[in-house]
Amino acid sequence: MSDETLSNLLKEDRRFEPPAELAANANVTAEAYAAAERDPEGFWAEQAGRLDWATPWERVLNWDDPPFAKWFEGGRLNAAYNCVDRHVEAGRGDKVAFHFVGEPVDADGHADGRDITYAELKDLVSQAANTLTDLGVQTGDRVAIYMPMIPEAVVAMLACARIGAPHTVVFGGFSSDALASRLEDCQARVVVTADGGYRRGAPSALKPAVDEARAKAADLGHTVEKVLVVRRTGQDLGADGWDDGVDVWWHESVDTASTEHTPEAFDAEHPLYVMYTSGTTGKPKGILHTTGGYLTGAAYTHWAVFDLKPDDVYWCTADIGWVTGHSYIVYGPLANGATQVLYEGTPDSPEKGRWWQIIEEKKVSIFYTAPTAIRSFMKQGREIPDARDLSSLRVLGSVGEPINPEAYVWYRHVIGGDRTPVVDTWWQTETGQIMISPLPGVTHGKPGSAMIPIPGISADVVDEEGRPVGNGAGGYLVLTKPWPAMLRTIWGDDERFKETYWSRFEKLGYYFAGDGAKLDDDGDLWVLGRVDDVMNVSGHRLSTTEIESALVSHPKVAEAAVVGAQDEDTGQAVCAFVILRDEAGDGGEDIVEELRAHVRKEIGPIAKPRQVMIVAELPKTRSGKIMRRLLRDVAENREVGDVTTLADSSVMDLISSGISTGK
Ligand code: WTA
Repeated sequence: MSDETLSNLLKEDRRFEPPAELAANANVTAEAYAAAERDPEGFWAEQAGRLDWATPWERVLNWDDPPFAKWFEGGRLNAAYNCVDRHVEAGRGDKVAFHFVGEPVDADGHADGRDITYAELKDLVSQAANTLTDLGVQTGDRVAIYMPMIPEAVVAMLACARIGAPHTVVFGGFSSDALASRLEDCQARVVVTADGGYRRGAPSALKPAVDEARAKAADLGHTVEKVLVVRRTGQDLGADGWDDGVDVWWHESVDTASTEHTPEAFDAEHPLYVMYTSGTTGKPKGILHTTGGYLTGAAYTHWAVFDLKPDDVYWCTADIGWVTGHSYIVYGPLANGATQVLYEGTPDSPEKGRWWQIIEEKKVSIFYTAPTAIRSFMKQGREIPDARDLSSLRVLGSVGEPINPEAYVWYRHVIGGDRTPVVDTWWQTETGQIMISPLPGVTHGKPGSAMIPIPGISADVVDEEGRPVGNGAGGYLVLTKPWPAMLRTIWGDDERFKETYWSRFEKLGYYFAGDGAKLDDDGDLWVLGRVDDVMNVSGHRLSTTEIESALVSHPKVAEAAVVGAQDEDTGQAVCAFVILRDEAGDGGEDIVEELRAHVRKEIGPIAKPRQVMIVAELPKTRSGKIMRRLLRDVAENREVGDVTTLADSSVMDLISSGISTGK
């Protein structure tokens, strides 16, 4: 299809009806919406029935003390048992849980990798659970996981769940500083890591960052007792890179541990994990998810939104360091006994069409990825996916940021051969589960719209006072009723939990999502993006304040302001405005590169600014608040907007005329 036809399509405002066969056999039918609306608690209780409970719950929802929810009160279960053992006990032990595909490819074109069945997964998880216990981890202790995308990462998460030790997975692309602050915040006793992982064909070390983070955590007064290390790349760790009193090899402990382990049932509200995410202040928030409600929400949505069938091969390309990996690689799909692809590497290594090659080879039928990836494939041209047989695909999913209609149509047409519905799924680290999405056998698709809340979920778009805006208007996206996988609090900070999510519409008891949205004339929902100081870069959440703090920690920087500017490839891009200290002079020739590298080191490569602009002043309101809106105008080369509330409105002229910029 030519570009011209594509844009014509968009003007036509197209609808894509569910394929007849899919609709006829769909897991969920239109009746589910009405049933869930009549009795939401009854609906979720029914969904909780897809799990195995050691003790049934007494009360579905306790919302007596909002915003602190308890779901399935009195019930007891083990999340790892539900994700693994019960499938083996039901005679499905030989079913493949993971087709693991490593990044390295040998000279004959064979990818490094292996298949892991549910029976094998049960043994691995039991062994790792025994090892963690041997290392002193007890129920309730926190374990940090800092790993590449290898099966041991999933095994470590499930082993933690099995012994009731909440895990906190820190994305392997984060720096040692970011890791240290998370270790300290949740007081992790043990870290599970690897010597390194493969990235674009070369080993990339992880263990040295753990050593650094451990030292930094110690400076903050927190001791990490043990580090369990998977040997993945075989990199030389150096003489200083191993501490016998702390470091333990996975292959010398887990591999030799007993495969017998009896899972204990925990309270439905027992903490399952803490996932850190960027908020509007510099300090990341530890989002707490608990066991019974979370697993119910993840399992139901994975089954309903992707129309999962026993023979499907499902692939979610997220990293387990993000919530998408938690809910839609680990907990949802495994609770449903799905067969998945787990891929270690990048989409384009060793060749541009690696993902499509994997889909062809593993006959992937459900594929879940982010708009930013789709846009980069669009750029490379359709010849690359066209060279592969993608006919196994039947449902495509999108997550992480708004999908522009052009990318949606390309995804459906080029990757899905026009057979596949595209489910644009809106949710957040905090929601734990998909909240707004079409159902592939029920709802028609509309490019760019996340459509309507799934059964059992109540959302609305409201104005400042919390009044519904109605069709054809925009406002704040809110969730108006509690849901099972909702966050329970921010780790160690109930006040911040209340303030961040529940104070804005306190009287109405609405959850404030931090996103702007609009309802179209049909009442379908379009997510417009964040309304706070959180950016979305390639589907990853970054806080403007966190990057600003990183910049001002550089000795040459006096002040910094960061904005997310629109970017064709990454959705938004990090743009920084920096005032240098007097003594730094002009900062030197390489100042822009120096500052970009500094942010990369402090937070990680994803936070590295696309642009750093050295300026003499920053626009501020009379109360001293930086006016990021105006900076965004500059960063996006727009005419600078209304400056009447600026303390000194000539500042903007100064900025737009005298900036030295670097890309
Ligand atoms: C954005 C990722 C539009 C949104 C699961 C949200 C989306 C934030 C979509 C959460 C979507 C996620 N359409 N925007 N389908 N999905 N977002 O916590 O701004 O990493 O608030 O969770 O991503 O990002 P998080």
